[in-house]
Amino acid sequence: MMVIEMTVLDDEDLRKKLVQAALEARRWAYAPYSNYPVGAALLTASGKIYDGVNVENAAYPTGMCAERVAVFKAVSEGERQFTAVAVVTANGGMPCGACRQVLSEFGKDTRVLIANDQGDLVLETSLDKLLPSAFGPTDLNLEA
Ligand code: THU
Repeated sequence: MMVIEMTVLDDEDLRKKLVQAALEARRWAYAPYSNYPVGAALLTASGKIYDGVNVENAAYPTGMCAERVAVFKAVSEGERQFTAVAVVTANGGMPCGACRQVLSEFGKDTRVLIANDQGDLVLETSLDKLLPSAFGPTDLNLEA
């Protein structure tokens, strides 16, 4: 985990830093079955970056995606507000549905930066665009 000063994503350096963090984390991906390593880097509102990688398993369904590893690392250390997440794959692949759902629990405005293994940003979007009408905490509030 690294700490940076700026937390708003209007800063080009910050975008690059987040993509770079995901790119560097990706080397630790454990993906012997898919050969599709993924690196993620999550920027918290408090200015920290938590990274994550996909961790596969011989019992295939028990593996975990990079984005969710990053979210779980951050939340387990008290973080619940995320400004942005960068995801790096060989070809600029998109976050899966389960990762979108887990990210959306903590905010629909989270920016999503998709990059390839050259560090090129191929798409910038937001969570509410990737998962509109998401099921969320308020859906469980039966009195609302
Ligand atoms: N994967 C991720 O890490 N994040 C995603 O959002 C999509 C898929 C991983 C899971 C698996 O280890 C590999 O990519 C191929 O599906």
